Amino acid sequence: MAASQTLFPGVALVTGAAGSGIGNATAHAFAEAGCTRIAITDINPTTLESTKKSVEEKFPKSQVFALAGDISSSEFVDNFIAQVVQKFSRLDYCVNCAGVLGPGKDSTTTSIEEFDRVNAVNYRGCWLTSRAQLKTMVDQEPLASHDGLRPAQRGAIVNIASQLGIVGRPNAAAYCASKAAVIGLTRSDAIDYSAHAIRVNCICPGVIETPFIMTREEDKQAILPFANIAPMKRMGQPYEVADAALFLCSTKASFVQGHAMTVDGG
Ligand SMILES: NC(=O)c1ccc[n+]([C@@H]2O[C@H](COP(=O)([O-])OP(=O)(O)OC[C@H]3O[C@@H](n4cnc5c(N)ncnc54)[C@H](O)[C@@H]3O)[C@@H](O)[C@H]2O)c1
Repeated sequence: MAASQTLFPGVALVTGAAGSGIGNATAHAFAEAGCTRIAITDINPTTLESTKKSVEEKFPKSQVFALAGDISSSEFVDNFIAQVVQKFSRLDYCVNCAGVLGPGKDSTTTSIEEFDRVNAVNYRGCWLTSRAQLKTMVDQEPLASHDGLRPAQRGAIVNIASQLGIVGRPNAAAYCASKAAVIGLTRSDAIDYSAHAIRVNCICPGVIETPFIMTREEDKQAILPFANIAPMKRMGQPYEVADAALFLCSTKASFVQGHAMTVDGG
């Protein structure tokens, strides 16, 4: 690497970073890859603090700024991004992982409140956070690419959608639609912000072994058969999604734009 010792000399931001899921793995992966300025958020303040502590203990060169809040609130999101920029002065790699599962019902038995909650976090929350990130990125100086050969990059955003944004599943209409919306949002933002040297991509994970699907017994039972549909016949691990997110954020993905990358064991 000629220009920089790390692929991530800039500032990383991860939403949904508490607990032991994809966001947590992504925050650790950025630090492991040499990123020294990492901002994280989640609605759960206790487990968010655990992520901060764990990253800083394992990777002492990395400084982690953590602020808990609800990404479906525009006030919280705008305040969080403002604080990150105040602390770290810019924003380069954003991985938007925060999400909730749907109620596990078909459309006629899903209440309006349940539908609104899923969309408020998965779709509106992703839009609010990526919108605030884009607003910051368009006004900052681009960073040189890792090899100096590719165009400089003003920022890269990776939204975590789902394989269920591409295909349907029983009793998951609200969730599937919220994730299809994230894919559509990603593709349109990729078009609008290409001229600003910002790349926007998303990842569509298959079945990943996280608290998201393993906490409620009914979710676990409903989702496990879907892991066996994929040729690799296993659940993915959070760090396998994190690796894909880091690739898409890095300038090694300099010509990857508006892509919905499935990470689902085939
Ligand atoms: N685990 C899977 O099989 C799977 C598959 C496809 C997509 N995904 C997506 O991956 C993303 C990460 O999920 P995960 O599997 O790591 O589970 P996870 O439960 O570990 O992560 C989701 C995080 O989002 C946080 N969150 C929920 N509502 C929030 C809100 N309003 N504001 C801020 N944070 C909030 C939760 O506290 C949690 O820490 C989600 O968007 C999910 O839809 C997961």
